[in-house]
Amino acid sequence: MRYISNDMMKKGKHKVLFVCLGNICRSPAAEGIMRDITSRAGADSEWEIDSAGTGRYHIGELPDRRMRVHARERGIDLTHHCRQVCSSDFEDFDLIIGMDESNLRDLHRMAPSPEAEKKIVAMASFFNPGNRYDYVPDPYYEGSEGFELVLDLLQEGCANLFDSLNKQ
Ligand code: 4NP
Repeated sequence: MRYISNDMMKKGKHKVLFVCLGNICRSPAAEGIMRDITSRAGADSEWEIDSAGTGRYHIGELPDRRMRVHARERGIDLTHHCRQVCSSDFEDFDLIIGMDESNLRDLHRMAPSPEAEKKIVAMASFFNPGNRYDYVPDPYYEGSEGFELVLDLLQEGCANLFDSLNKQ
């Protein structure tokens, strides 16, 4: 698992932004899962959690109905409204977490400075060692299994992310 250095995460709240392409499937699911984990741990006040998309196709929309249904089955309500990543995100958040290589490339292109680029990490860097995925696959054109797989990967990664930052 990726080691997060002390200087990467400033003291105070943990401010994390999850990013995918559309901001209607993977990243709002990651946001909802992370909110669920921090709330169960009684740590909501120590975290600032949001999500955004590199694209602008679905701005203002709720997450994809299929993702909302699958997340609800795991007790997680997704209420985020889609927004696009903006330059102030690189100031407002300490960790910017991309779902796949394409998201990560776009984020590196958008980052306003080398300092800002250091905040960009792959969601897969929080997966358990031995996980056969090294990215979170886009479920948009997939069936139910695609959405379930994304939720499995995100629940594993977000739990590890929580543990790694909670120790600091
Ligand atoms: P996401 O999935 O990046 O996980 O939100 C997608 C949602 C919509 C589209 C692509 C990916 N789209 O092309 O509209």
